[in-house]
Amino acid sequence: MSDAHFVVSGDAWSVRADAYRNAQEQREGSDLDRIVEWARGARTALDVATGGGHVARRLREAGIEVVSADPAPGMKADVICPAEHLPFADSSFDLVVTRIAPHHFADIALAVAEMARVAREQLIVEDTLYVSEAVEEAERLRDPTHVSSYSEYEWRSFLEAAGLRIEAVELHEKRHPLEEWLARTETNEQDAARVRELLAGRIEGDEYVDRKILLRARKQ
Ligand SMILES: C[S@@+](CC[C@H](N)C(=O)[O-])C[C@H]1O[C@@H](n2cnc3c(N)ncnc32)[C@H](O)[C@@H]1O
Repeated sequence: MSDAHFVVSGDAWSVRADAYRNAQEQREGSDLDRIVEWARGARTALDVATGGGHVARRLREAGIEVVSADPAPGMKADVICPAEHLPFADSSFDLVVTRIAPHHFADIALAVAEMARVAREQLIVEDTLYVSEAVEEAERLRDPTHVSSYSEYEWRSFLEAAGLRIEAVELHEKRHPLEEWLARTETNEQDAARVRELLAGRIEGDEYVDRKILLRARKQ
């Protein structure tokens, strides 16, 4: 995969930077609280695919020294880089975190290997849990930068292949205000209608309800 690919997807994200910075379900949640809890004891951390910077903000508030990274210049991370090429030495950070982003990574195995390499103690990963091909189609229609969501089995395999020992796995419900969630990626009306159809079983009132998988893994 050439770096050109990452630059193109990075530009698409810059346009959405404010929307992701301000979205309530990105800014808060039981998932974010758990990440902060699991981070206890770390002195330094890297927030990969920081987006609106919510993990970085919460970890800094907890007294941790954080470097944020993202390939999209508009996200205003400390370091502009994709997860697949982290410009840091081995074991640079006590903790590496990535939240609700790996489903956008072009090469998931390489990204996990890179995050494991620069972590000294712990890697925390959160992402949308794979549900079905219908949901994958909806996610891609709503956001063409969606590559793939993964099952718990796949996540365990990625982390173990990178030499990590899994210590905890949790699922957290995430409720998205459906129309705002569609507008955030400028989904056109025709695609939005199809997305509503594909997600019908997961829509409650005016919310799309999805599940995030959160994994805590340690270097051995
Ligand atoms: C949904 S946002 C991230 C949310 C953020 N981590 C949070 O907690 O709110 C997804 C981010 O992934 C980034 N991204 C896309 N492709 C990437 C890649 N290959 N490596 C790292 N980040 C990537 C985008 O630029 C975007 O900022």
